Amino acid sequence: MTATERPAAAPRRWDPVVKLTHWTIVAAILANALITEEGSDAHVWVGYALAATLTFRLIWGVIGPAEARFSAFPPSPGRALAHMREIVAGKRAEHASHNPLGALMVYAIWSTLAVIIVTGVLMVSAPAKPEGGPAAAAPPAAAAQSLEREEDEGQEGREGGGEREEGPLVEIHETAVNLLYVLIVLHIAGVVFETRRSGRRIVLAMLPGRR
Ligand code: HEM
Ligand code: HEM
Repeated sequence: MTATERPAAAPRRWDPVVKLTHWTIVAAILANALITEEGSDAHVWVGYALAATLTFRLIWGVIGPAEARFSAFPPSPGRALAHMREIVAGKRAEHASHNPLGALMVYAIWSTLAVIIVTGVLMVSAPAKPEGGPAAAAPPAAAAQSLEREEDEGQEGREGGGEREEGPLVEIHETAVNLLYVLIVLHIAGVVFETRRSGRRIVLAMLPGRR
């Protein structure tokens, strides 16, 4: 038994930082997926809050308590396969941190979020047309192009966000967001599966006040 495994039926423990960062990340994703206008100031600020929260969690992965550390749930396809074999064989090893399959999912979600954040920040820092009067400073061709874009976007506009270049960054941002949605569905399915398989209410362990 390794340091990250506990005797059967031991409750999983998450410290307040893991819980708080988990639900803050969930809230930020929901806000940007459902509430804020794509590319708006609100979208970008929620994005920065998401970036800060993820950074905090990653630092916690080095300095936090044992269960929260990366060393407690290393990304290991080999261990994930072994874990799947245990599931098939009906064995129940207990893990004080994420189980090896869950660990792969956690790293996949974090990596996808990193791609979303990096592309988002790059889009924001790409030269944007200041609102109200770019044409005067821009060369005629660019001015004509930006006029065309204004017409294309019609009334939709962006709340105080200025215009941004279309291109690979938007594509990557959007693709990563779609991948994130798939991962979230799998994550929630995994949580339900693990709850039923182990009989432990692991969601409760992620809620405030349960340790
Ligand atoms: C998980 C959180 C996020 C979700 C769900 C999300 C979702 C989206 C979606 C669906 C779009 C539309 C893409 C398209 O035009 O096809 C978009 C655009 C955009 N997002 Fe995000 N986003 C997130 C995080 C961020 C972050 C962290 C930033 C930057 C700090 C950011 C900045 C932008 C910008 C600037 C655009 C406008 C792109 C354009 O010019 O059309 N987003 N986002
Ligand atoms: C936007 C949706 C979600 C995302 C992106 C997400 C992401 C994550 C991440 C990254 C972790 C690892 C936490 C850490 O070590 O810091 C995690 C763990 C966890 N999440 Fe979520 N989550 C989402 C929604 C949910 C929901 C709706 C539930 C409850 C039904 C849930 C229940 C859990 C549980 C129980 C764990 C701990 C799993 C374990 O014991 O190994 N998550 N989630």
